[in-house]
Amino acid sequence: MVATQFASARLQLVAGRRPQQQARRTLSVQCVAAPEQVTTRVQRNKNIGKLQAGYLFPEIARRRRAHQEAKPDAKIISLGIGDTTEPIPPFIVEAMKKASEGLGTLEGYSGYGAEQGKGELREAVCKRLYEKVGRKPSEIFVSDGSKCDIGRLQLMFGADMTVALQDPAYPVYVDSSVIMGMTGGHNGTGFEGVQYMVCRPENDFFPDLSKAPRTDLIFFCSPNNPTGAAATRAQLTSLVEFARANGSIIVYDAAYALYISDDNCPKSIYEIPGAEEVAIETCSFSKYAGFTGVRLGWTVVPEQLRYADGTPLIQDFNRIMTTVFNGASIIAQAGGLACLQDEGWAQMLQLVEFYKENAAILRKTFQEMGFTVYGGENAPYVWVGFPGQKSWDVFAEILEKCDIVTTPGSGFGPGGEGFVRASAFGHRESVLEAVERFKAVYGNKQ
Ligand SMILES: Cc1ncc(COP(=O)(O)O)c(C=O)c1O
Repeated sequence: MVATQFASARLQLVAGRRPQQQARRTLSVQCVAAPEQVTTRVQRNKNIGKLQAGYLFPEIARRRRAHQEAKPDAKIISLGIGDTTEPIPPFIVEAMKKASEGLGTLEGYSGYGAEQGKGELREAVCKRLYEKVGRKPSEIFVSDGSKCDIGRLQLMFGADMTVALQDPAYPVYVDSSVIMGMTGGHNGTGFEGVQYMVCRPENDFFPDLSKAPRTDLIFFCSPNNPTGAAATRAQLTSLVEFARANGSIIVYDAAYALYISDDNCPKSIYEIPGAEEVAIETCSFSKYAGFTGVRLGWTVVPEQLRYADGTPLIQDFNRIMTTVFNGASIIAQAGGLACLQDEGWAQMLQLVEFYKENAAILRKTFQEMGFTVYGGENAPYVWVGFPGQKSWDVFAEILEKCDIVTTPGSGFGPGGEGFVRASAFGHRESVLEAVERFKAVYGNKQ
């Protein structure tokens, strides 16, 4: 497919040139997409060239568009990308309204703020979520979201890191590692040099650390996107012990922590003693308060976390934030502050509860149809098994037969093969309609 695009780009180029230019150009264009005209002599970042057929979600969007073009009347329901759909709770919206109106007045106007976020917000995040696990406001870096922070963390670490990640996992960990140059090329299954820590039903979605080699970095997400598995206290304790024994750094992604209902599953890695010396935690208002478009998150870098030479990571992360970031939007920060006040917090939890109900509906539906289902209890994602089938084939079949967009498990790593992810982010009527469509097509599975 990609090769065909390249070939046709090359043909177009050749057709539009005079003969001597054609000959020269034909020789110089090998296996890259050739634009109409190349003015620069700049070589592409070879690491970006290693990435597979693009980021997962643009590919899904492309297939969705193609399906809609082929079936213009189809009312497609998306249980795919995992974008929030419900309005931001009123208390939080009010705070943002006030902040934006303030910008239109002399007294309320402010320009750049601190790159690390407003002191008041850092304190509020710490008080609500981290004080009881020993963290300080100065260790909280407010940002425009976790995805962006993962990119900035990678920039801080540089190319000379070895990396391990859960398989399957949120694709940003591996793709950003590839772009940074931490990996080799793709070998048809995964990227050379990356330690894929397989998380499947057979190991209760937690990696077998006794077989895992040492790496500098370990990306770990709990509750996991896409499997919906939340790691237990005992599992996270073993992860922290593993990192401590190996002298590794965990980048702990807690973007869905508030979806955890099970008391036995920590909501922060810092609930585990000793984690402050080996773990960074990133989190976000995106899936808590519907801030996917507003953009607000944070990353915690404990003072105790140090590189081998004794340099505190917090010092370097502060340098990165002050160099390539200019502070989160002050309107978004006002919203974040409201999220952490009692009224906003209560409304935010209701929103989380709404999506959890969606997850429960989807989970029950697949179970009743006889599928093996995971997740959906401590996470907004339901992980449905289609043993022996290719995820992209199942994705295509569901799109074709149900007009529903899911996410193919293999898009999250080789360990996701044979699964699709259904996201609980959707209007209730869409989820119920999706359920009816699933039942009509797959209801007689057993
Ligand atoms: C595991 C995980 N981490 C981070 C993010 C991105 O969060 P943000 O919107 O704060 O960039 C997502 C978004 O889907 C996610 O699934």
